[in-house]
Amino acid sequence: TQLQDMAKEKVEAAKNMAFAFDIDGVLAHGNHLIPEAREALKMLNGDNELGIKIPYILLTNGGGKTEESRCDQLSEIMGVPISTGQFIQSHTPMSALSEYHETVLVVGGEGFKSRDAAEAYGFKHVYTPKDILAWDPTISPWRHFAEEDCVGARPTDFSKVKFDAILVFADSRDYATDMQIIMDLLLAEHGQLLTRAKDPISSRIPIYFSHGDMVMPTDHKGPPRMTQGAFRIGVEAMYKGLTGVDLERVIYGKPELATYKYADDVLMAWMEEIHNETRIPENIYMIGDNPASDIIGGNMYNWNTCLVRTGVFQGKDGENDLNSPASMGTFNHVLDAVKAGVRNEL
Ligand code: G3P
Ligand code: MG
Repeated sequence: TQLQDMAKEKVEAAKNMAFAFDIDGVLAHGNHLIPEAREALKMLNGDNELGIKIPYILLTNGGGKTEESRCDQLSEIMGVPISTGQFIQSHTPMSALSEYHETVLVVGGEGFKSRDAAEAYGFKHVYTPKDILAWDPTISPWRHFAEEDCVGARPTDFSKVKFDAILVFADSRDYATDMQIIMDLLLAEHGQLLTRAKDPISSRIPIYFSHGDMVMPTDHKGPPRMTQGAFRIGVEAMYKGLTGVDLERVIYGKPELATYKYADDVLMAWMEEIHNETRIPENIYMIGDNPASDIIGGNMYNWNTCLVRTGVFQGKDGENDLNSPASMGTFNHVLDAVKAGVRNEL
């Protein structure tokens, strides 16, 4: 029975820990699996000495499509089922904004997929820069506009539309057009295209960005590539240059506090789903590749943090990040990090 007691204790410890995984640079590179990730997730799904599920969520600054379609895609890549109940992408917490804004411009992502996400969140009228281009291609003077750009666009007379807010959900695929249209709306009289406000500040509509990462890992041979944070700085600088005032904006995603609070709610609901217990595990391990996002955010929220070398961070073995060191140190890949976390608790 001493053995039984020990086993019981271990089971409790397994349910009192949890992992939060970053995706890009930890579990996958774009649509390519990082091979050790599959074994890591299988282990947490119950393929371990206790045969018990160790809770985990995915906390990514990625986005640009619905949670459902991304989870389907991830399940396929990982070869392990990923549920929307354990998944948070950068814009997931922005669903709460649909209570306050009806008509929105959604920027970034492939085709019109960000529109699907915004509609799933309950925003009533969701437009994209491509809808606006299809209405009037001259809005973006240097863009070569082709007929196929109209496929999927919603024919709309934008001279009559009043936007309530701008939501940047993912990387812009056309900086020039997107920045022009964002600037037009920020400078307009209450979010109406073709107008210019006399007093740009009091009639300015709000702008929200889904995350602040400056760079991301890609297939490029050189250093990491620019992402939404760099785009935002461009928007801010243009706005300041044109008006002389700072642009007020809201940023979601890691390392913002709101995202970690949201993650707590998701973890609680997920614990209920897999263990029928209404509580948040006490010992949480964030596994990330970006010190300026995953690690600093996890450290600020008192999670344990593990930095892997398969993404943005490229330090040598034994070297931690100087500005935001991971509390558990660095690892060659996600499986080593998961094993270290499990070893720490069980
Ligand atoms: O930086 C944008 C995106 O690629 C980051 O995704 O999963 O590393 O947070 P993730
Ligand atoms: Mg990452």
